[in-house]
Amino acid sequence: MNTDNQNTPHQPSDKQIDFGFQSVPLGQKQNLVNDVFDSVASSYDIMNDLMSGGVHRLWKENLLDWMAPRPSQILADLAGGTGDVSLRFLKRGGKFAHVIDINEQMLAAGKKRKIMNPYSDRLNWMVGDAQLIPLADNSVDRVTIAFGLRNVPDRMAALKQIKRILKPGGRFCCLEFSHVNNKLLSKIYDGWSFNVLPKLGQLVAGDAQSYQYLVESIRKFPSQAELSTMMADAGLVQIKVRSLSGGIAAIHSGWKID
Ligand SMILES: C[S@@+](CC[C@H](N)C(=O)[O-])C[C@H]1O[C@@H](n2cnc3c(N)ncnc32)[C@H](O)[C@@H]1O
Repeated sequence: MNTDNQNTPHQPSDKQIDFGFQSVPLGQKQNLVNDVFDSVASSYDIMNDLMSGGVHRLWKENLLDWMAPRPSQILADLAGGTGDVSLRFLKRGGKFAHVIDINEQMLAAGKKRKIMNPYSDRLNWMVGDAQLIPLADNSVDRVTIAFGLRNVPDRMAALKQIKRILKPGGRFCCLEFSHVNNKLLSKIYDGWSFNVLPKLGQLVAGDAQSYQYLVESIRKFPSQAELSTMMADAGLVQIKVRSLSGGIAAIHSGWKID
């Protein structure tokens, strides 16, 4: 399928938005993001382990600890990529997971993972845009977006859609890179990010630019307080945040009450 999702809502082309450190027309960002994930899809899982030293696994486990899946619950795993979060949700006893991603190549890489096989009848892989989620109103118990919201051009649109698909009493959790406050950690992290990651990307995925985008997009992503405000503006309540690894990542949680 063409990754230019036809369901992408109309976006005014004159508004500028960040794509890493570049400023691009809002309507162009999704295509640029899609190019990044087309390029990295086949090496995505191995790169995640290499870049983070496996720590992304602990962050995802933290996300699941907080969500505490139950056997009655249905998850929408937005920007679900190769299905890592859905897999953990099902392993921990969740009922069913929709893995929704705009990029068919990421989903295809996920479907190929043998580790997914025992859960295939409880998984639905869907091409879809977080800005216009292909699920009915009030239809899921949990929504996650892990390392995805940063890539979505209109984040408020996505947050409003998340509220729309959640059942009343449902919970949204966002796992995303965040901002480090400790000066020493920040220096070490910047050195690793700017000097090592693009080189690692070149070596393993044959693509330094996509990993340069990753590093830059993290720096441009809203702070924990800003994202909390956005979630509240979208109508979610009881917003709470947990910093992970000194703020390198963070989990935001919010609920829909009505
Ligand atoms: C860094 S990956 C995260 C994958 C997975 N959630 C994980 O944690 O391993 C980001 C994903 O966001 C997807 N994405 C980007 N823009 C999107 C959008 N507007 N709607 C849905 N998915 C999107 C990309 O295709 C990519 O698979």
